[in-house]
Amino acid sequence: MSKINTERLWQRLMDMAAIGATAGGGVKRLALTETDRQGRTLFMDWCTSAGLHLRKDTMGNLFARRKGLDPQRKAVLIGSHLDSQPSGGKYDGTLGVLAALEVIETLNDLNIATQAPLEIVSWTNEEGARFSPAMIGSGVFAGKFPLAYAYQQKDAAGTSLEQALQHIDQLGQDVVQAAEFAAALELHIEQGPVLEAAATTIGVVTAVQGIRWYRLKIIGHETHAGPCPMEMRQDPIRGLSELLPQLYKLQLSLPLSQEERTAARITVGELQAYPGSINTVPAEVHLSIDIRHPDSSILDQLGQALEQVVRQLASSSQLDYKLEAVWHSPPQSFDPACIKAVEQACQDLKLSHQHIVSGAGHDAVYLAKVIPTSMIFIPCRDGLSHNEAEHIEQEHAFAGTEVLLQAVLQLAN
Ligand code: HGY
Ligand code: MN
Ligand code: MN
Repeated sequence: MSKINTERLWQRLMDMAAIGATAGGGVKRLALTETDRQGRTLFMDWCTSAGLHLRKDTMGNLFARRKGLDPQRKAVLIGSHLDSQPSGGKYDGTLGVLAALEVIETLNDLNIATQAPLEIVSWTNEEGARFSPAMIGSGVFAGKFPLAYAYQQKDAAGTSLEQALQHIDQLGQDVVQAAEFAAALELHIEQGPVLEAAATTIGVVTAVQGIRWYRLKIIGHETHAGPCPMEMRQDPIRGLSELLPQLYKLQLSLPLSQEERTAARITVGELQAYPGSINTVPAEVHLSIDIRHPDSSILDQLGQALEQVVRQLASSSQLDYKLEAVWHSPPQSFDPACIKAVEQACQDLKLSHQHIVSGAGHDAVYLAKVIPTSMIFIPCRDGLSHNEAEHIEQEHAFAGTEVLLQAVLQLAN
């Protein structure tokens, strides 16, 4: 079965994992930081050695093109992202970028030409960990966000995305348009437990669930932790203690089936108290809220239920609640022909496979709005991701890459 050079692919995954390597065995390559620049440089060097034509657009998205026999044909786009979570794994995003490179290297080695050009892509700031929202590089490419909106997004230190691009010399001028592409495929680890539990090798991804992000500020009154009597305080942590039990039961407040309830995802990932002193009642508490659901209207109802809970808390306390809706990415289905190409590749390669809806967001969500797109998943151990212990089996990485290769050959010929 194997056409790809498995040693080369695995070695490159390990070489890339060495960039931003953390003591816990993961990676920290936050978007547009020095480690991201190093990863980008390594990737671009590999692409140049493979004879690809490099482009960089105004969001710092990286493109590497291999000519096709018929230059009039629209290209097939394959890739993912190289930026990581602050405490991320070696494979989230990186597998999709380096597997795409391996597909092209293999075609070069075997001297196989395709009718359509092939293009590898590595998207800027997929994770949304440094700059909100996530998938902002592919989002601008797909016309979902104006460039000016993306450029003004700031990280926790107040650095804008535009400044970060300039600072690591990744602000390109090349214009790359969705109209150049006939189809797009993204290989990614599942980041959930479904494939491993079913002992299925390949996930044929049919859709991605919807996401809503919020930022909430609970504003009280800073005062001394000692003399101030409890009943005189306006303590935002007390407000938080009333919010959280209701937040984690939002789905129970809606007329949903048990299955619809268990499909809801609610996460507080960021939480800070200001000024953050052991003997000062905080002035403010800031938290992020990530809500997800595969059904668009239920996702909207969960958002409305959150707004209702916050309104009730605000009206019954002296605290001030400022809830900001930061991002809305509705559920996105993928293109039937691209899904069929992935299925056909699995059948030809005799790999166990099943349909799956992605719990994580991916650049393919925005691509799907402007190019026929689908995704390929492989299992990850214990369904673990956004964790330094993220782990995949080599055989699954190779199988996923072979499926990508076969699906590309279908779509590009
Ligand atoms: O948020 C997500 O699901 C993705 O990892 N950016
Ligand atoms: Mn990812
Ligand atoms: Mn991720």
